[in-house]
Formats: sequence, structure tokens, C-alpha cells
Amino acid sequence: MSNLSEAELIHKFKGISFTTMSSPELLNSLDAFDAREDDVLLVSYPKSGTHWLAGVITKLYNTPVTLTTPIELGDMSKLEELNQLSSKRIIPTHLDYNMLPQHFKNKKCKMIYISRNPKDTAVSMYHYYRENPNLPTVDTWTAFLDLFLEGDVVCGSWFDHFLSWEEHKNDKNILFLFYEDMKRNLPKIVKEISIFLGINASDEDIQDICKQSSFSEMKKDTEKENSDPSHTVCALTSNRKLIFRKGTVGDWKNHFTPKQNLRFDEVFSEKMKFSKMAKHLTY
Ligand code: A3P
Repeated sequence: MSNLSEAELIHKFKGISFTTMSSPELLNSLDAFDAREDDVLLVSYPKSGTHWLAGVITKLYNTPVTLTTPIELGDMSKLEELNQLSSKRIIPTHLDYNMLPQHFKNKKCKMIYISRNPKDTAVSMYHYYRENPNLPTVDTWTAFLDLFLEGDVVCGSWFDHFLSWEEHKNDKNILFLFYEDMKRNLPKIVKEISIFLGINASDEDIQDICKQSSFSEMKKDTEKENSDPSHTVCALTSNRKLIFRKGTVGDWKNHFTPKQNLRFDEVFSEKMKFSKMAKHLTY
């Protein structure tokens, strides 16, 4: 937990909370990002399995993620950093669709969006807030859940984020994935990703990638690589120990009281009433 005040850690841009590590100048210049047609975007709301997906993609390409923090993190030097990267650029972001730099849309860059049951996402984010000195202090799970449901957390409302991307789920350049599907049948999803990216991966390659991408293997790698920030695609920490916590589906059941669950379900039903994918997100 941090000794800095909330105002020193968080600022709002277009109504969405960002840490002060994302400078307003950079956020204002997002549309100046110069996309390349072969850029691949790895998109998620925080705590949805970003690192897991990044692990799979980098193993498929056999190359590390080229940009190790999301495009929206940093100051104006981020633009220069991006320009200097050689192709192929694998670029993480937590931006919602509306804030995504226009060039990526115009050039129809490939984008992979990973989503996760918001109850588990909230729990994961709560623990992340608790452990991370770059985020405001949250005293209790109950207090955090209030903030999550109000969308008053870093990267804004989970619901708005999901819905902004769901509108584009059938775009040819976007692959929509769910954390829970990766848990259920990783080889099937890795195959799907390889086809989407146009990578020729044999069944044996896919088996290998799945083995190396299991929670226990990735966590073990973390212990070796913890001092190397190039292995994280996280906005807020270079300490990978904070990323690999439990890696399960349904941990929310260990946190939510029946009353909190009821309230969450009410908010979920209201916010997601036009969503065609709501049933994929309730476990
Ligand atoms: P938990 O906190 O529920 O354990 P992100 O990478 O977007 O920050 O997401 C982190 C979440 O993904 C954490 O969830 C983490 O444990 C989980 N995760 C990371 N690697 C995983 C893997 N190989 N298999 C399953 N879950 C994984």
C-alpha cells in the first residue's frame, strides 16, 4: 500500500482513472500513435489474464513482447519508443475501444481481446491494489467492491470497457477470447490464436506452448525472471510476483457475501442488458 495520497497516484482523463504514470500529455496524444499494418494489439481490462495471453503469443511468435508496458503508460517519450521498435510489434493496452488510437483502427491491425468473469476480475484487482504501492490504498474488500461497481478504479468501469469492445467482436481483425475458455481448453484456444495470427503451429508446438503456459510453469519462470522487467506487460509493476496469484475460476466465491453477490448481479443485469455475451461471463 502506498504512502502517497490518491491525488498523487491517480488522475482522470475523459472520466477514466489512470495512474499518474500515464501522463495527460501522452493520453492526449494517443491518436498520434503511428500504427503499422502488422502490429498486433493485446487488449484487456486489467487482471483478465493479460500476461497469460502474452505468454502464449510470444511463444507462438517465438519472440518477446516488444513493448513491455501498455501504450497508454508513460510520458511523451513513449511515442518515440514505439517508432523505434522494429516490426513485428506486439503491443499491450488496457484502453477501451473508444480511446484506442485511431491509426490502429484505420489500418485494421489485428487485435486480441481477452475478457474474464468480472467477479473474478474484481477479486484479482482487489488483491493487486492491496499489494501494489503504485495504486491507492483500499482498506477492505467491501470498499473495493463499491469502487469497482462504480467504475472508480484504474482503467474505469469493467462494464464500459467490455461493452466498448463487444461492439466490435465480429470485426475480422479482432479475436475475442475468454479467460475461462483458456482454463477449460487451452490447446483449442492456442490453435485459434495461431490461425488468427496466421502462424503455422503443429499440434506438437501447441502442446509445448500449453505446457509452458500453465500457471505453475509461468509462476516458476517468474521467480527466475522477477528482476527483469522486460517480462512483464503490466502497467503498474515490474514485480511479477503480483501477477501470478491463484489463477483459478470462481475465486470470487471465497470473497463475496450473499448480499454482495446479489448486488453485483443486479448491476451486471442492468449494465449488460444489451450484451449478447453476458452468459459467457457468469461462473
Ligand atoms: P488471479 O489474481 O485471480 O490469480 P493480468 O495478467 O491481466 O494482470 O491477470 C492476472 C490474473 O491472471 C491473475 O489472476 C493471475 O493469477 C492469472 N494468470 C496469470 N497467468 C496465468 C496462467 N498461466 N494460467 C491461469 N491464470 C493465470
